[in-house]
Amino acid sequence: MAARLEALGGTSDLLPEEASRWQAVEQKARQVLHRYGFQEIRTPIMETAEVFLQSLGVATEIVQKQMYLFNDRGDRRVALRPEGTASAVRAFLEHGMDKTSSLTKWYYVGPMFRAERPQAGRRRQFHQVGVEVFGSASPHQDAEVMAMLMHLLKSLGIRGAMLMVNNLGCRNDRPKMLEYLKTYFLGHHMDLCPDCKQRLEVNPLRILDCKIERCRSIAKGSMQWSKWLCKDCADHYDKALASLRTVGVECHPDPHLVRGLDYYTKTAFEVVYPGLGAQNAIGAGGRYDDLVERMGGQPTPAVGFAIGLERVMMALEAEQVAIPPAQPPAVYVAALGEQARGKALELLQHLRAAGIAAVGEFEAHSLRRQMENANRQGCPIVLMIGDDELAKGTVTLRDMATRSQAEATWEGCVDEVLRRLRAAA
Ligand code: HAM
Repeated sequence: MAARLEALGGTSDLLPEEASRWQAVEQKARQVLHRYGFQEIRTPIMETAEVFLQSLGVATEIVQKQMYLFNDRGDRRVALRPEGTASAVRAFLEHGMDKTSSLTKWYYVGPMFRAERPQAGRRRQFHQVGVEVFGSASPHQDAEVMAMLMHLLKSLGIRGAMLMVNNLGCRNDRPKMLEYLKTYFLGHHMDLCPDCKQRLEVNPLRILDCKIERCRSIAKGSMQWSKWLCKDCADHYDKALASLRTVGVECHPDPHLVRGLDYYTKTAFEVVYPGLGAQNAIGAGGRYDDLVERMGGQPTPAVGFAIGLERVMMALEAEQVAIPPAQPPAVYVAALGEQARGKALELLQHLRAAGIAAVGEFEAHSLRRQMENANRQGCPIVLMIGDDELAKGTVTLRDMATRSQAEATWEGCVDEVLRRLRAAA
């Protein structure tokens, strides 16, 4: 017997009912993003591994432990994308966009892959809606991106989300900050967890993000690291937060917030939804002013974020937001007899050509079973064709709500359906 085949751990199917909820959320997200002038890009889900190795940081968990890497048939090192920013920058450069001076505002929707230990809200294939703005160094741009993130979540129905922000400084500040943190944490070396002992070697900033209580309490004593921020970075951050306040968006400065990717500079942020347990970040992002240049382009300031759709769906459930179900087909065509089934297909195609969503089956089911199927699918109108109707060149039209029936001619029935649907709208 063949082995039972199942989806890989940490990946899952979305069956139609759930997929239609996802469609509604994605559609809403697109509406908001278009309102802010973002345009969609679609990049491949696999890239040469270099795209991520050059950008995310060699010491990050993603690069160290979580990338799906393989050699393709041409022996090229390939990665399934673990996130969208690096791919967007690769596309930005490949199409010479860094040589134009215009502001570029892109968004993407799609699957990302990280080999993490699966748990609630943490999947190996998960889905993001992400945005990237290239070409603006203004703190108002940081504010607009954060305001849009909160606007997006609110219009999806998520009200309990909190925006946490921090200032990670620029590349000139970083060595001084790291030096300070290294000295501080070396003094507590014995008490750090094994992961943080390693982080101390490669990037002590990341210790601030450790979830282990002992490391967190040690990290609390290190908070003066922000005094190493230069005036320009401090001013930029203050202006971004002031600008955010003027548009009525509340944010919470969090000096522990450091992010799991190395490309961030200046403003970094995360949106947490407190009810979600350990994986409570529903979105995150920040400014990454050096990345385009580091990946081989002209210096181009940039800022963006991504939300995780699985976690957004969990937050919507926690807030008991009702997502309207997909529209059922308007018409079910029920046919009795082989000849009538042939005619049913003709009629279905006429209805669809007129813009009407219509379904029917071509099995030899009883009329009763076909009516049950129509009912189950929520079709408000059933058109019936049997021997009688075939002989007369008519169809019987049944209104499922009132259970009233009427006769229509073969030629006139599509118009009659349209008339009834318009009247009901
Ligand atoms: P990130 O923080 O790695 O940032 O991911 C963004 C969001 O994706 C997270 O807040 C979370 O909601 C979701 N997410 C991440 N990993 C998983 C997972 N294993 N399972 C389920 N959801 C997950 C980025 O990816 C950056 N590229 C964001 C960005 C865009 N920064 C600037 N532009």
